[in-house]
Amino acid sequence: MSQKVTVSVIKADVGSVAGHSKPHPKMMRKCEEVLVEGVKSGVINDFYVTRVGDDINLFMTHYKGENHKDVHSLAWTAFQSAAKLAKEMKMYAAGQDILSDAFSGNIRGMGPGAAEVEFTERGAEPMVFFMADKTEPSSYSMPLSRIFMDPFTTTGLVIDPRAHEGFRFEIVDVMDSKKIVMSAPEETYDILSLIGDTTRYAIKRVMSKDKNIGTACVVSTKKLNICAGKYVGKDDPVAVVRCQSGLPAVGEVLQPFMFPALVAGWMRGSHYGAWYPCSVEDSDPTYFDGPPRICALGFQISNGRFQGLEDPDAPLGKKTPVDYFAGSVWDEARRKAVRASIYMRQHGPFMPSILGPEEMEYTTRPAVLGKLKDRMEKID
Ligand code: 13P
Ligand code: 13P
Ligand code: MG
Ligand code: MG
Repeated sequence: MSQKVTVSVIKADVGSVAGHSKPHPKMMRKCEEVLVEGVKSGVINDFYVTRVGDDINLFMTHYKGENHKDVHSLAWTAFQSAAKLAKEMKMYAAGQDILSDAFSGNIRGMGPGAAEVEFTERGAEPMVFFMADKTEPSSYSMPLSRIFMDPFTTTGLVIDPRAHEGFRFEIVDVMDSKKIVMSAPEETYDILSLIGDTTRYAIKRVMSKDKNIGTACVVSTKKLNICAGKYVGKDDPVAVVRCQSGLPAVGEVLQPFMFPALVAGWMRGSHYGAWYPCSVEDSDPTYFDGPPRICALGFQISNGRFQGLEDPDAPLGKKTPVDYFAGSVWDEARRKAVRASIYMRQHGPFMPSILGPEEMEYTTRPAVLGKLKDRMEKID
């Protein structure tokens, strides 16, 4: 098929059962019902509804391109309908990510996060869908730099002729609402000099240098582009990654998550915790609202549809992706993540357990400083 397909993942937290844990199954079913209508009316081609922790993720395919009003409007309707149910059931934080009442044509800036990639389907199109809970988009910067820049992670950078050309990175400066495209391996050290600061810079997109391949990876960012000067987002972001045949192999893409890096988010969006790789089933936050979770699901994109392990003629939306982190191989990383998270918790309310002052989602500091103003004495 020569027409370009678009894969859109749009996600939001619109309420959960007993704390920031897990959406009610009825809310997920409501999203499925709305997306079935979306297929019937021709807005989208196919879909799959899943979740990580308390975030509902809508995977959709269509031929309308990135940022299409009808696709965003459909996702908006799904989240609004699920939020309405959540409110009726008095779920916790019902409607959390619905920041506006009126849809303006694009879901960006309204609460939900979106990662969309348009491409010409190759002979086989394997994709990995990462979904995170209790963390922020810049958490993907370390694993993505390992996947697309580090030959000790991705042997393909050394031995696959097309991957050997390197990749281009779109990097966002969230403090200044700016973006820049940089090229690896030539600018590797400059790229790392920026994205090592996860409070200010984040990788938004990675592109193959082979024009026939196009975009390799997109990260969802709901607040990155709109919040100059004050970045408050723990967006629970997704990252969609196309794999193989000139791109890193699936195994190369998954490998960096064996190291459970410390990422910002966790309890009250205000702590560092170790990124815990797990199945969707195991993604309920259970220890101090975490630790932050990362799930990885695999589908083939086949003729504009998601093809997992289900029969090709399975009912709409009934899909079985490969759930990569479900297996026992990842027990090692999970054990390390729990140990590192316990270690961090032992610092209590002290840094580096809590985030730096500009990054805290909750703080009493201005009030405390205000109260103490008259008692604060100058030291000679
Ligand atoms: P590709 O040629 O599709 O990238 O396959 C390589 C591979 O699968 C190595 O694991
Ligand atoms: P979520 O961003 O997943 O809703 O979690 C917020 C929180 O405060 C967890 O403690
Ligand atoms: Mg929540
Ligand atoms: Mg969440």
